[in-house]
Amino acid sequence: MQDLAGKIAVVTGGGSGIGRGIALAAAAEGMHVVLADIEQGPAADVAREVSAAEVESLAVQANVADPDSVKALADQVFDRFGAVHLLCNNAGVFTLGDLADASQDDWRWVMDVNVMGVVNGLQAFLPRMRAQDGESHIVNTGSLAGLMAPRGLPIGVYTASKYAVVAISETLRMELEADQVGVSVLCPGGVQTRIWEAERNRPDSLGGPQPIPEPVAAVAQEAARGGGGAAMDPEQVGRIVIAGVKADSPYIITHPETRGLVARRFEAIMAAFDQAG
Ligand SMILES: NC(=O)c1ccc[n+]([C@@H]2O[C@H](COP(=O)([O-])OP(=O)(O)OC[C@H]3O[C@@H](n4cnc5c(N)ncnc54)[C@H](O)[C@@H]3O)[C@@H](O)[C@H]2O)c1
Repeated sequence: MQDLAGKIAVVTGGGSGIGRGIALAAAAEGMHVVLADIEQGPAADVAREVSAAEVESLAVQANVADPDSVKALADQVFDRFGAVHLLCNNAGVFTLGDLADASQDDWRWVMDVNVMGVVNGLQAFLPRMRAQDGESHIVNTGSLAGLMAPRGLPIGVYTASKYAVVAISETLRMELEADQVGVSVLCPGGVQTRIWEAERNRPDSLGGPQPIPEPVAAVAQEAARGGGGAAMDPEQVGRIVIAGVKADSPYIITHPETRGLVARRFEAIMAAFDQAG
């Protein structure tokens, strides 16, 4: 999809970080942008920023883990704008701690938001996107951790969820080849966002916000303060996403320096094939 001006974008998790970056980059192209987030205040703040680009914006409180909430979001957006041309299933959370020690609540929360959030977005929006005239595009936010399991960072539950997002995106792209709906999966490395404070949004029904375990607390605090060294500016990620949409890229890669990490995973898999006979 090359010409974005005047078209409609919906960004979940649009109140912060990468979602905000995508929203601003979409607005800079002349798109009208819907910011959907579980946090209404930040979504409204980003909607005001988007409006500065002289496009329309709408902030909607929505919980991507709740299919009824996402369906209500889609109804509101299609009622107001009549079409959706860019759907960014971006909202995501992580838990910190060894996968071996993760609780049922940890698994449920991360899978509900990161995996079912994408599924709920697809079920609520895709049928009407397929039925409308013209091209449209879906960007699912995966992660570098959807392409390889990072060593030394205890985000295994998150990694499992992001492998699922990559698989969903790859499959959907094949299924929608005959339609005018492109599909990309965004796979960033470190980005300077509030993901380290994700626990703020864990519902009470799944144990409420949990403390960050001691060994990674210092890293998390540093990242939350704006440290984290090479972490990318989310506005730059947003611009890369828009370029990926225009190019209809199956994978949107933001950190070329992480290539070796992904190559090593596939080399290990290929080596196993070599040994298979
Ligand atoms: N920051 C990174 O280094 C990094 C790297 C790779 C991938 N990602 C992915 O980027 C996406 C955005 O995360 P971010 O880094 O911008 O973090 P962030 O915490 O800054 O933004 C996430 C947004 O999602 C919202 N959200 C959380 N739960 C929600 C729910 N149930 N329903 C609706 N909204 C919800 C939050 O309120 C927040 O506004 C996530 O999918 C994350 O996994 C981040």
